[in-house]
Amino acid sequence: MSKNLVIYFSHKGENYFGGALKQIEKGNTEVVAEQIANAVGADVFEVEAQKTYPNGYYTCCDEAKKELQQNARPELKKQIDSIEKYDNIFVGYPIWWGTLPMPLFAQLEKLDFAGKNVAPFCTHEGSGLGDSERDIKKLCAGATIQNGLAVRGSTVFSSQDKVAKWAKSALK
Ligand SMILES: Cc1cc2nc3c(=O)[nH]c(=O)nc-3n(C[C@H](O)[C@H](O)[C@H](O)COP(=O)(O)O)c2cc1C
Repeated sequence: MSKNLVIYFSHKGENYFGGALKQIEKGNTEVVAEQIANAVGADVFEVEAQKTYPNGYYTCCDEAKKELQQNARPELKKQIDSIEKYDNIFVGYPIWWGTLPMPLFAQLEKLDFAGKNVAPFCTHEGSGLGDSERDIKKLCAGATIQNGLAVRGSTVFSSQDKVAKWAKSALK
């Protein structure tokens, strides 16, 4: 059984991609999550909110900003209750307003990270990891946190080698 887990949130729909707004079928973070799972062998869990975020980029930005300001914890469609059997947990997300999306806050807060090895990764359009590493440290209290990986969303399809190298180096 795999001792590695990838937990991620990703948003399909209209996104800012390579300088233009474009409809994407598969979220950028989802692409990186799959690259990690392929590189190290891992179970994969997608965090999904009960609500549907707006498809339009700007309306989604407005919604996400409201949630961040309210420190919201959106209801989740499904959740993982235990990470006891895993040693290495890769936590992935798009940067939303400088940090991770609130549904991921809601999921991570429910888990016990004591003694775990956590490797954060994000996709973004310029911010890099932003404040997310600081927030991950709080959300995954008791874990060893590896240096995070930031991949520009518009380059995910050519980032496979870099992602695989980082994922292997983040294992404990
Ligand atoms: C609501 C929202 C907020 C965003 N905020 C930021 C940001 O603060 N900094 C940044 O570099 N990119 C930001 N982006 C761009 C996304 O992080 C980027 O497009 C990412 O690759 C999307 O990943 P996904 O397809 O897995 O959801 C934002 C996108 C959305 C939809």
